[in-house]
Amino acid sequence: MKKIICGKVACNEAIARDIYKMQIQSPELGQAKPGQFVNLYLADKSMLLPRPISICDIEEGCMTLVYKVVGKGTKALSAYKEQDDIRVSTPLGNGYFIEGEELEHHTCDYRGKKVALVGGGIGVPPMVLLAKRLQEQGAEVTAVVGFPEEAFLIQELKGFCQSVHIATDRGTIGFHGNVLELIQEKEILAQEYFACGPKVMLRALSQWCQQQQLSCQVSLEERMGCGYGACVGCTCKIKVVTEAGVEIQQKGVCKHGPVFFGEEVAWDA
Ligand SMILES: Cc1cc2nc3c(=O)[nH]c(=O)nc-3n(C[C@H](O)[C@H](O)[C@H](O)COP(=O)(O)OP(=O)(O)OC[C@H]3O[C@@H](n4cnc5c(N)ncnc54)[C@H](O)[C@@H]3O)c2cc1C
Ligand code: FES
Repeated sequence: MKKIICGKVACNEAIARDIYKMQIQSPELGQAKPGQFVNLYLADKSMLLPRPISICDIEEGCMTLVYKVVGKGTKALSAYKEQDDIRVSTPLGNGYFIEGEELEHHTCDYRGKKVALVGGGIGVPPMVLLAKRLQEQGAEVTAVVGFPEEAFLIQELKGFCQSVHIATDRGTIGFHGNVLELIQEKEILAQEYFACGPKVMLRALSQWCQQQQLSCQVSLEERMGCGYGACVGCTCKIKVVTEAGVEIQQKGVCKHGPVFFGEEVAWDA
């Protein structure tokens, strides 16, 4: 159940250029599903809106977040020091469909199943907790991760994946190109794909999966306002089957997502 807690920063350090790892401790932290996120409330009251960040890992009383400094909020976050207090609303969103609910068109039995986790840039952090949970469920996990030039979280992924493939836009590390080109070139085939990253990447992967008739779950990191369903700042277009046929409806990513099945998203609408 979601709640706002007051946590203590246990560490906040740079792990690559403009990329920080923050660990937050609180006895009130419960569990979270991979793909769920938190809203961070900054101490500076001029920044009222919370900043959404995906849960990278969570253990008893300790949560790991990995974020990129892109603007005022994440810059302020990078200045937090060990022992600082921070308010966190957690866990938010639906998370990937891998446990608990059995959906009509989808089974959550991953024993012996080949899965591929596809992360792009700041979409890589949620892949760590996802890899951990899928490995615990007995899946054969492969990660395919793409970055502009500098890679991060590779060791963490290697701890839970049978193989980790890296692509960089400039060819500085691993494959020279994007994650979909790498999947196609190396024929990284899986029964199900899970992705998080820039929308163009999610759209290309989702359309490729549909052509191959493979299941694909995508986490949409739309820009958010309130972060809890009140402002309609984060809507995206989702296909919904109704009695009248397939309708395109606006859905708030913070409330109904951030994870959707690729074929549900009206990418071109
Ligand atoms: C569900 C969800 C999970 C997220 N998980 C992570 C994560 O694990 N790590 C991480 O680094 N970031 C993540 N983000 C993005 C993060 O929330 C934004 O980068 C952050 O809110 C920017 O705040 P700011 O005040 O620094 O930037 P602002 O000053 O608000 O914006 C600076 C620049 O960043 C762009 N920007 C802001 N928000 C987003 C966004 N959501 N997507 C793309 N561009 C954006 C703006 O358009 C602008 O160009 C996530 C976003 C969502 C919605
Ligand atoms: S961020 Fe306000 S409705 Fe989603």
